[in-house]
Amino acid sequence: MSFKITVLPGDGVGPEVCQEAVRILRALSHFYDREFRFEEHAIGGAAIVSDGNPLPQQTLDACLASDAVFLGAVGTPQFDHLPPDRRPEAGLLNLRSALGGFANLRPSYSFPAIADCSPLQRSRVEGADVLIVRELLGGLYFSGPRGFGKAGDYAYNTMRYSTDEIERVARIGFNQARQRRKKLTSVDKANVLETSQLWRRTVIQVAKDYPDVALDHMYVDACAMHLISNPTRFDVILTENLFGDILSDEAAVITGSLGMLASATIGGKVDLYEPVHGSAPDIAGKGIANPLGAIASVAMLLRHSAGMPHEADDLEAAIRQVLEAGHRTRDLIQQQAATKAVGSREMGGLVEQAFVSMLDRRCSYHAV
Ligand code: IPM
Ligand code: MN
Repeated sequence: MSFKITVLPGDGVGPEVCQEAVRILRALSHFYDREFRFEEHAIGGAAIVSDGNPLPQQTLDACLASDAVFLGAVGTPQFDHLPPDRRPEAGLLNLRSALGGFANLRPSYSFPAIADCSPLQRSRVEGADVLIVRELLGGLYFSGPRGFGKAGDYAYNTMRYSTDEIERVARIGFNQARQRRKKLTSVDKANVLETSQLWRRTVIQVAKDYPDVALDHMYVDACAMHLISNPTRFDVILTENLFGDILSDEAAVITGSLGMLASATIGGKVDLYEPVHGSAPDIAGKGIANPLGAIASVAMLLRHSAGMPHEADDLEAAIRQVLEAGHRTRDLIQQQAATKAVGSREMGGLVEQAFVSMLDRRCSYHAV
C-alpha cells in the first residue's frame, strides 16, 4: 500500500527540518508493508525564485493529488518589499485555501526534560498540555474587501465569519476535547466585535451536541494573560484565525521553544502538516535548527492521515526519550545544565534510532 506525501521544503530552515522529517518516515516504511512516496515541490520565496510565483501550478496539482502535504516554512526577508499577494506567505495562504483545511491543530505541552527552558517557572508550566484549534480559512486573513486607499493614506481589512464557518471548526474543537480532558475554552472578543458575538452564540449552539464537554468563554486579551500565568487551566482553546495565530506563538512559551511545536491542518481535501516555527532566516543553512517541531508534525501526520496512531505515540515517546537523555539543539541549551549540544541532523538521527527500537519492539511483539 503506498501513501503519497508532497514535501514542500520552502524557505529558510524549511529544507533542513523537512529532511529530518522525511528520514523518520523512511525508517518507518522499513517496518511495514507500506511505502511512503515523496515528491518534492517548490513553494514560497524558493518558488518565486524558481518559477516567479509563490505557489506554482505544478506544486498545487501535486498537493491535491497526494495523501498528505508536509511543509517546512515560507518567508524570506529578500521579498519583504512585495505586496501581500505576491509575497512568499501568499503561497502558503493560497495553498491552505486550495486544500480546504479549516481547522489548524497546534498542541503545546511542557516536556519535563526541558521545562526549565521555559521563561516561566517550572512549577507554573509543569503538567500544562494545551491544544489550540485555530480557524484557518476565514476572518481577517481571507475576507474582503481589503486593500489600500487610492492615495495610500489608509488601508482596510475585513473580519467576516458565517455561522457555517464557525460551526464546522467548533465541531472539530469539541471532538478533540472529547479525546482529551473534555474541556473547551472558546476565545473571542465579544465585548467589541460582532463576529465574536456570532462566534460565541454559534459555539454555545454547537455545545448542545457535546454535553460531556465543559465549555467556557474567554476574551482574547484575558486569554493571552491566563495562557502564561496559569497554562494548566486550559485543555482545548478554540478561536478564530488571527487570535489563533497570535496565541499559538505565545503558547510556545509553555514548551520553551518555538522549534518544538507541530501543527496539523485538517478538514479539507488533503491534510497539511507543518512545524509552527517558520523560516528563521537568521539561522538558515547552519545545520542548527531544531527539527523536533517538524518530527512532531510527522507524528500528527501518522495519527490523523496515515491511520497509524500507535506509531505516532511511539514517535512522540522517541522525542521525549532523546530529550531525557540530555540532547539539545541550540534553542534548548540552558546554562549550567548537563546537556549535549547537537545539530539538526544529529538530533534527527537520535530520534530515528529511538523510534526504530520502539518499532522493533512493537513488531516483534506482534510477531509472537
Ligand atoms: C503561521 C504563520 C502564517 C500565518 C504566515 C507565514 C502566513 O505565521 O502559520 O502561524 O500567519 O498563518
Ligand atoms: Mn504565526
